[in-house]
Amino acid sequence: MEKVTFSILRYDPEKDKEPFFQDFQVELRRPGMMVLDALNQIRWEQDGTLAYRRSCREGVCGSDGLNINGVNRLSCMTHVEELQYPIVIQPLPSLPLIKDLVVDMDNFLDKYFSCKPYLISRTPMPDHEMLQSPEERRKLDGLYECILCACCSSSCPSYWADPEYLGPSALLNVWRFIIDSRDEGADERLEMLNNRHGVWRCHTILNCIEACPKGLNPTRAIGGLKKALVMARF
Ligand code: FES
Repeated sequence: MEKVTFSILRYDPEKDKEPFFQDFQVELRRPGMMVLDALNQIRWEQDGTLAYRRSCREGVCGSDGLNINGVNRLSCMTHVEELQYPIVIQPLPSLPLIKDLVVDMDNFLDKYFSCKPYLISRTPMPDHEMLQSPEERRKLDGLYECILCACCSSSCPSYWADPEYLGPSALLNVWRFIIDSRDEGADERLEMLNNRHGVWRCHTILNCIEACPKGLNPTRAIGGLKKALVMARF
């Protein structure tokens, strides 16, 4: 049975001075094994102290974003056989490290919530559903699917350089609500983004597009926000 070397970043703040890499041999027991299957095999059979996040195992919960062979991806959606060996696994870059592959997501999620990711209503709520036409609904495609895995934001050099930058994930989600026909909060959201830690920090580096496991395009969403801000001035 073929064995693959996984070189995994380890760090336990209670006993390690600094992070280090540890190698594990993983048996490829069946075709189509995912990186998450390999991590489970290591944890269940070799080292029960290995820390990493996962939940749904099918690309929905967004909890298992990792840097795998230098690229941010979901471990549950990454085939082992598609990667070059040895496979190097690190936590998502730029997010504070808690233990092994687990990072602190608080700051990332605080930025998301600061953008008011919900429908804002100024007029009295109707006594029936707020219907959308098929065209209005279609505008949300490519935006609502974000699973907040942080693969995009943590791959962005602007995000690394500016701790206050909202980042591609939060900005994509702002755009998702601004273009929603049922939302009436565009003005306050746009004003919040019109500063150097908002949309203007994006320098169109495009890493976020490559990193998104759902195939979304945060750069295009940020372009929409920039255009809306300029139009609002005129
Ligand atoms: Fe839920 Fe991978 S475990 S997205």
